[in-house]
Amino acid sequence: MANDTRVALVTGANRGIGLETSRQLAQAGVTVIMGGRTADAINAAAETLRGEGLPVLPLVLDVVNPEHHRLAAKKIEADFGKLDILVNNAGIVTGEHFGMNSATSIAPEALRETFEVNLFAPIALTQALLPLIEKSPAGRIVNLSSILGSLTVNRGWDDPEMAAYADFKPTAYDTSKAALNMFTVHLAAALRHTKIKVNSAHPGWVKTDMGSEAAPMEIVDGAKTSVALALLDADGPTGAFIHLGEELPW
Ligand SMILES: NC(=O)c1ccc[n+]([C@@H]2O[C@H](COP(=O)([O-])OP(=O)(O)OC[C@H]3O[C@@H](n4cnc5c(N)ncnc54)[C@H](OP(=O)(O)O)[C@@H]3O)[C@@H](O)[C@H]2O)c1
Repeated sequence: MANDTRVALVTGANRGIGLETSRQLAQAGVTVIMGGRTADAINAAAETLRGEGLPVLPLVLDVVNPEHHRLAAKKIEADFGKLDILVNNAGIVTGEHFGMNSATSIAPEALRETFEVNLFAPIALTQALLPLIEKSPAGRIVNLSSILGSLTVNRGWDDPEMAAYADFKPTAYDTSKAALNMFTVHLAAALRHTKIKVNSAHPGWVKTDMGSEAAPMEIVDGAKTSVALALLDADGPTGAFIHLGEELPW
């Protein structure tokens, strides 16, 4: 494949925002490697997009498996010699109390499980792929965060604009996304003298399995923030927390 083709890896690409992000990046002419936890699910998702005439490839990638990170780097190196875009999209929410404040009751196992997928995995995968991203003329790293990871919003219970989040505090999820935001800032700082940009995306509250049918945003719109950050120009931000082009408070 020609080296001027932009190449992206999207994790958790078999459904939800990751699938739609893959579709929109491929529609923009990017060759998209779709990472998914199981072969059946990611092959089916990639087949759907290939049926739409889009340049995508499936890759079995369980983000908590370091061997999968190594194999992904090896395959991308062999097939493309570089990686232009990494979208750390895979994420989970655990526990029964998604809508409630679980600070006084969250089980350590739920915290660990959430941090494995939402924090430790994107850090380890990014580090494994960084040598390939450094070979891109304009590397872009997008970490799928959430407004629920904002300390400002979580502390804003006196502010009428933030009152909706006053008691909506799934502790494992929110702390994992706040920590992911810190990783975004640290990595952006480490790479700020390079051409690589690193940003956190809040997709919105989106109608996916995670977001539920109650969510106001359609998936097609929920992917837009990730796609825009993946395709940022050279004058775009780095180390920012963005929703549909607007900066959010950390
Ligand atoms: N939906 C919202 O309203 C919303 C709001 C703010 C932020 N977000 C964030 O946006 C991202 C995508 O969310 P979504 O709504 O699309 O969620 P979703 O519909 O629940 O999909 C989650 C995706 O992550 C994958 N995943 C989970 N664990 C994985 C692992 N160990 N390895 C590889 N893939 C794994 C899932 O794969 P399987 O099918 O194999 O489980 C699935 O493809 C998440 O990081 C989420 O926190 C979502």
